[in-house]
Amino acid sequence: MKTSDDTHVLLDGFPHYPEDEMLRRAVAFQESMRSRRSVRQFSDKPVTRDIIEACVRTAGSAPSGANHQPWFFACVGSAEKKREIRRAAEAEEREFYSGRAGEEWLDALAPIGTDADKPYMETAPWLICIFAQRRGGVREGEDRKNYYIHESVGIATGLLIAACHEAGLATLVHTPNPMKFLNTICDRPETEKPFLILVAGHPAEGAMVPKHALIKKPLEEIAAFL
Ligand SMILES: Cc1cc2nc3c(=O)[nH]c(=O)nc-3n(C[C@H](O)[C@H](O)[C@H](O)COP(=O)(O)O)c2cc1C
Repeated sequence: MKTSDDTHVLLDGFPHYPEDEMLRRAVAFQESMRSRRSVRQFSDKPVTRDIIEACVRTAGSAPSGANHQPWFFACVGSAEKKREIRRAAEAEEREFYSGRAGEEWLDALAPIGTDADKPYMETAPWLICIFAQRRGGVREGEDRKNYYIHESVGIATGLLIAACHEAGLATLVHTPNPMKFLNTICDRPETEKPFLILVAGHPAEGAMVPKHALIKKPLEEIAAFL
């Protein structure tokens, strides 16, 4: 690797912990993330914009192909826009659940209990509509090809979900298919592809989650140490 004082700076501010503290922190984070659940019954209790801004800043700190940061987060809090998104999403979902999905997909979704009704899209205070940018670059106004777009936006979304959870916000990844309507409603250019909608807010009192979601594969099934 080539470094020079012109192009590089010393790694600064990176935390160092004693080994037992490292393990303690890793386990504490794992424990915290264990209580994350996709929630589909939200309260209308408001969530201030600065909380969402902080979570999106965390997402924006994610690694990305050539550091092009090929993401955009349209944070929708207005009641009219949320209604528009709900209407458009439900129209697609009706098609999906009445045949477009196919039997195998509907079968896989059955234990979750989802259907075409998405009232939470209006009840929850925030719909974070995430877009993937085909072109962009590091600096504002650049028009360069982006790389590893899906991988990068997926990682940023993961950080966003973790940040929301740490802040005490419930989330739901919602992916109506197709989602082209989001470009119009969120006023985003054609070069951006809607990636997913992250619903964020407080869970409703007595919110239920599917037992199916509690089944997580054990470490032996998801990892090998070679
Ligand atoms: C890419 C992706 C798309 C998803 N799409 C939807 C969706 O459209 N509607 C929904 O209710 N849940 C959706 N989910 C949530 C999953 O159903 C949920 O993550 C899974 O059942 C596990 O539950 P948990 O998140 O509580 O661990 C999606 C999750 C992911 C990662």
